[in-house]
Amino acid sequence: MFLKNYWYVAAFADEIAREPLARTILGEPVVFYRTEAGEPVAFEDRCCHRHAPLSLGRLVGDNLQCGYHGLTYEPSGTVVAIPGQTTVPNGGMVRKYPLVDRWRFGWIWMGDPELANPDDIPEVRFNDHPDWSYVGGYLHMDCHYMLLVDNLMDLTHETFLHAKTIGNVHVAETPLAKVQPGSKEPLKISPLQDLVDTKNSITATRWMIDIEPPPLYAKSGGFEGRNVDRWQLLHFQPPSHVWLDAGVAAAGTGAPEGDRKEGITHILYDGITPETEDSLHYFWSFPRNYNIEDKALDDLLQTGISNTFLEDKEMLEGQHALMKARPDAPRIDINADAPAVQVRRVVDRLIREQAGTPSPDMVAAAE
Ligand code: FES
Ligand SMILES: [Fe+2]
Repeated sequence: MFLKNYWYVAAFADEIAREPLARTILGEPVVFYRTEAGEPVAFEDRCCHRHAPLSLGRLVGDNLQCGYHGLTYEPSGTVVAIPGQTTVPNGGMVRKYPLVDRWRFGWIWMGDPELANPDDIPEVRFNDHPDWSYVGGYLHMDCHYMLLVDNLMDLTHETFLHAKTIGNVHVAETPLAKVQPGSKEPLKISPLQDLVDTKNSITATRWMIDIEPPPLYAKSGGFEGRNVDRWQLLHFQPPSHVWLDAGVAAAGTGAPEGDRKEGITHILYDGITPETEDSLHYFWSFPRNYNIEDKALDDLLQTGISNTFLEDKEMLEGQHALMKARPDAPRIDINADAPAVQVRRVVDRLIREQAGTPSPDMVAAAE
C-alpha cells in the first residue's frame, strides 16, 4: 500500500511539455502535458471509452485527443468532443491529479484532491538558488521504494559499494550520533535548518573527524593529500523524501560547530516515487555551494554521482529479487540500521492510519 495524501515528484518540470508523457505513479497510469500557456496537466492515462492509453494521443491546443477513436479531453479531464455526435454520455471524464511546478520538478498529488495544498510541497530550494550550482538526474529501479529509503538512511554501504567515489573506511567505522525522531536539532548548523519539521521526520548525523577525504570530494574540493572533517546529516520526511547535507572541510577549521568557510557542501535531495510495489522512480539533485560556475566540475559530479547510483541500483534490484523469492527468510538488524528502522516505523504507522487500522500499541493500550 502507498501513502496517498502527499506530494511526490512525478517528473522533471522540463519533461512535461507539448507532447504527452506517460508515467505510472503509485500503480496508476498518468499522462502529463503542458497547455499552450505553460500550465502542467496530469490525468488518468486511460481513455474512458475503451481504455486506450491517452498518452498515445495528440495535443490539440490545450486539449488531449485520444489516438484511438478521437475523444477529446480538456485539461480538467472532461471529454468535450466525440467524433460523429454532439453529446457526451455520463461518465465522459477521467480522473485529474493536482500537479505543480516547483524546484525544477513537477509535483503530483495522488490522494484526495481536496487536501492538496501546494504549501506542503517539500523544500528543495537549493535546486533553484543563485548561490548554488545544480546537477541532477533520474534512475528507474526495479525494487520496492522503501529499499531505496533504507539505502539512503544507512550510508555505511558507501564504504563497500561506492569505494571508487564517496566511500572510504571511515563511513562504516564511525557510529551515528543518536537518532532523534521528530527533531531536526542536529540540522541547526546546516543549510537544511529551514526545512519544515514534522513529528514524522527522522534526522541522523555522522561526523568523521580528521580523516582522509573520499576520492570524489578530494578531487572536487581540492583536498587531495589533506585531512578533512566530514559530515553526513540525513533528514527523512514522509512519504519518501530524503535530504543529505554532505560535505568536507579542512580538518580542525570548525565545521562541527558550523563554520564551513574552509569546506564544501552538497545538498543531495532524493525524490523517491513508487511506480509499482516492485519498482520506483528516483529523481535526485545534488546542488553545491562552491565553484558554481565550473562546468567541468558539473560534469565530474554528474558522472560521479550517476555512476554511484548505478551501483545502488544493481544492489537494490538484486536484493528485491531475493526478498520476493523468499519473503520469510530470516534477517538480522545491526546498529547502523537505526535510522532506517525508525523511518520504517513512521511509514508503517502512517500506512496503518491511512487504512484506518489501529497500531499494535493502540490495541495493547485498549486491552
Ligand atoms: S479508446 Fe479512446 S476514443 Fe476510443
Ligand atoms: Fe549508495
